[in-house]
Amino acid sequence: MNRYVGFHFPEDFVFGTANSAFQSEGAWDRDGKSETNMEYYARKVAGQPRGKNFYTKDLPDRGCFFYDNYEAYIEDMAKTGLDSFRLSISWSRVIPNGVGEVNPKGIDFYNRVIDKLLEKGIMPFVDIYHWDMPQCLQEKGGFASPDFPDWFCSYAKVCFEAFGDRVKMWSTFNEPIVAVTYGYIRGTFPPFEKDLKKGLQAIHNCLLAHFGAVKLYKSMALGGKIGAVNPLAPATPVSISQTDLDACARTMEYSFDWWTEPMLKGNYPQMLLQTCPDIAEAMPAGYAKELAEQFVPMDFLGVNYYFARTAKYDPEAFLQTKTAVETYFAEPGQSYAPYPAGLFDLVQYVSDRYDNVDIYITENGYASQNICDEEKECDDLDRIMYIREHLRIMARLIRAGYKNLKGYYYWNDADSYEELDGYNLRFGLTWVDHTTGKRTWKKSRYYFSEVCKSKMVN
Ligand code: FCB
Repeated sequence: MNRYVGFHFPEDFVFGTANSAFQSEGAWDRDGKSETNMEYYARKVAGQPRGKNFYTKDLPDRGCFFYDNYEAYIEDMAKTGLDSFRLSISWSRVIPNGVGEVNPKGIDFYNRVIDKLLEKGIMPFVDIYHWDMPQCLQEKGGFASPDFPDWFCSYAKVCFEAFGDRVKMWSTFNEPIVAVTYGYIRGTFPPFEKDLKKGLQAIHNCLLAHFGAVKLYKSMALGGKIGAVNPLAPATPVSISQTDLDACARTMEYSFDWWTEPMLKGNYPQMLLQTCPDIAEAMPAGYAKELAEQFVPMDFLGVNYYFARTAKYDPEAFLQTKTAVETYFAEPGQSYAPYPAGLFDLVQYVSDRYDNVDIYITENGYASQNICDEEKECDDLDRIMYIREHLRIMARLIRAGYKNLKGYYYWNDADSYEELDGYNLRFGLTWVDHTTGKRTWKKSRYYFSEVCKSKMVN
């Protein structure tokens, strides 16, 4: 094979798709599952104003009917040639009261899913937490409660004991910045609070919960790997003035390194603490010592990539930085504005800063507006271009020496529920009728199948 024609991936490179429990399963109130915070808040904010727009009226009660149709979905994954499927476990399904009694029907469901994946030769990559918390725990303070690390570690223990013999890739949290920073500081995500001090404590609690679970997993010697998933929207300064460069560095540290540096190095980013008195003053007492004491390194980092941003110095803004999504070649107003080159910047940034840690791109996906037209939506050439361009970047990175790039998961396997946007956005490789559950392969799924089987793109 001529290495200089086409874009190639190593034989052991992992190609997969991803989805999450509350976005895909449906069956939200069946077989003993309790209500999650995501379901509770979706009901509460449905149709309410959201900035200049409105929250969706859709509820995550059906997802893509994965709970009922998981076998058919996994058959499709096998036909596609996936190496891996990234899924999450619903805490509310497994421990409906958040702590204490385990629901055997919840365990049974994930056992069936995991066994079916393995039977088809597909490696399960399991997120213990992808945004959905039992609402009863949210009411007791959620991430802001000092008990959160204990609640989470007991839940993680149940997962490791039940599934750890077969699941060899784990992630503690998916995008905790969204659930915690946006949930408690920015106020744009459940529970919609805006309190810097409380939010910084909630972040700290989440990090302690992460360390507790990693430590526990390692002590169980189950022979797999454990990491976490953070999103990165790489920022570029609007100019090369020192003030814009500094603003850009601050936004990268706040949005990415604030989570990743503790997880990989055991400390919060120093530059932010030194230059942002608002943050330094609102930090929990004794945070540095506690973090250093509890720190346990993880095995890999998952990074989700959708779009890039610009950063500009603005003395009035939080962190004295104003950011904007850079639309580049995207359509005006397009959700999750695609910018493939940003993936190059992302991998360089992460590799340089974190000693070439093993990286999985755990999400990357193209959102189209739901136009309720199966035929047109399945003829998704834009999504094919999107996948191809991002994978070309990945292949270029690997050829340029980034051997720490280990896998790529497309988001998502099938059109599902999007938090805050409901069924209005379609990311899937499989088209789903959200009323009947009918499934149809989009052209992008056939394309991705060729990629998975050949480990190359044109
Ligand atoms: C990510 C989330 C995922 C999905 C995509 C579009 O931020 O991890 O659940 O909503 O965005």
